[in-house]
Amino acid sequence: MKILVIHGPNLNLLGKREPGVYGTLSLRDINRRIQSEASGMGMDVSVKQSNSEGEIIDAIQKGDYDCLIINPGAYTHTSIAIRDAVSAVAKPAIEVHLSNIHKREEFRRRSYIAEVAQGQITGFGADSYLLALIAAKNILSRG
Ligand code: DQA
Repeated sequence: MKILVIHGPNLNLLGKREPGVYGTLSLRDINRRIQSEASGMGMDVSVKQSNSEGEIIDAIQKGDYDCLIINPGAYTHTSIAIRDAVSAVAKPAIEVHLSNIHKREEFRRRSYIAEVAQGQITGFGADSYLLALIAAKNILSRG
């Protein structure tokens, strides 16, 4: 079971960036948690962070994974191009957010990705990614 986790723009600043909203864990801490949970579940996870829309699209298009877990950051609310890439590869995708995007500014409620994802996990901090791993495992074992 190959999983690709993509962290979008500004998520490289986690730990320092608005800790009241996004928590105090760094991206490195979160990636460590993801890897440790995934290895316990027998899943092979690769992780990528990018601030660039094009790089995120290239990673999605590469398609060398069975399931995509993606936190598109602010591109969630703007990027038809990322949405089209997710739709084009036709692999299951799970949208993840640390904060609850439905509890914040109005503009964050709109997700272009949700419409092409299996589901959205939002508001559980770093646990959102771990919940996404469970969802990915279940989706892939169902076949
Ligand atoms: C975020 C929510 C987005 O609205 C925001 O632009 C981010 C992070 C989250 O994980 O809560 O960069 O995706």
